[in-house]
Amino acid sequence: MALATLGIISIGDMGLGIARLAIANNYKVITNASDRSQATQDRAKRNSIALVDTDIDLCNQADYVLSIVPPRDAIATAQRIAKAVSHTNFNSRPNPLYFLDLNAISPKSSREIDSLFTHTPQIHFIDGGIIGGPPSLKQDGTWSKPSIPLSGPHTLPSTHLATLLNTRHINSTIGSATGLKMCFASLSKGFTALAIQSFTTAQNLGVLDELRTHLDEYAPSTRTKAEKGLTGMPPKAYRWVAEMEEIAETFEADGGFNDAESIFRSVARVYEFVADGTELGKETVEGRKRGLTAEDVAVLMREGAEKRKVKTD
Ligand SMILES: *[C@@H]1O[C@H](CO)[C@@H](O)[C@H](O)[C@H]1NC(C)=O
Ligand SMILES: *[C@@H]1O[C@H](CO)[C@@H](O)[C@H](O)[C@H]1NC(C)=O
Repeated sequence: MALATLGIISIGDMGLGIARLAIANNYKVITNASDRSQATQDRAKRNSIALVDTDIDLCNQADYVLSIVPPRDAIATAQRIAKAVSHTNFNSRPNPLYFLDLNAISPKSSREIDSLFTHTPQIHFIDGGIIGGPPSLKQDGTWSKPSIPLSGPHTLPSTHLATLLNTRHINSTIGSATGLKMCFASLSKGFTALAIQSFTTAQNLGVLDELRTHLDEYAPSTRTKAEKGLTGMPPKAYRWVAEMEEIAETFEADGGFNDAESIFRSVARVYEFVADGTELGKETVEGRKRGLTAEDVAVLMREGAEKRKVKTD
């Protein structure tokens, strides 16, 4: 007998990692992939994730629904669940349904999602964020896990699940957990955007080697961080566009910064340019991302900028 059933939407890298962790610890995991690609459905089956055909089935069978989707899909996913829940027969289930939004969204977006469920007391909405990479099984048989801060008036009823997923309930206010995630993510992803502009410009000026030499002497950890950020960012850039907008919204709505001060609106444009305006956003580059150096990134950014200049001239 499974300890409980988790409905996970959707089975990307993070969703899959969490599903594996849960299944390895005696939970049942289900997903609705009915209109997703055959590859996605096969991936789910290969990992012992049960497929259901509709969102209503998902809500009827699950004890917990976890939303783990690209940030731009978070609200639409919550709306899907709210709609399905309106067709769910709560009389036939003994416990409420817990809906956890674990997406990289602003506290404002999370409050908007919360408002979808105000007239559905059988749904217990929990605000959450994921800090760190997907769970993975280590050589020694233990799991490396991300941290999952949660917040809101409801807490997870199972301490077993709370511990397994490495969650911590940080506040009873909706938005605290997503806000924490946004503040954390802003530092590394904001810094990487600065590194993109700094390295690209240094490359254009022919002083990239000099920049590196000076970083080595005066700020060696900054060079390491910049180069790691630059080489790791290309395949994620398209996904980060919406996340940067959510960070901007967080700093505006919950940090008190005005339009002129909202630097993450511009950070979003930088990643958009990487994804749509350069070869870095293309499959071919993703394929050789292991071998990509910081200098390659600077060169490809410059080529993208030149192409854009020709177009607008
Ligand atoms: C889930 O099921 C619904 C029917 O309830 C379907 O319309 C929807 O597209 C499915 N979603 C996914 C991601 O497969
Ligand atoms: C929870 O968050 C609110 C702001 O949303 C803050 O005023 C309060 O101090 C926090 N409570 C705790 C226990 O941290």
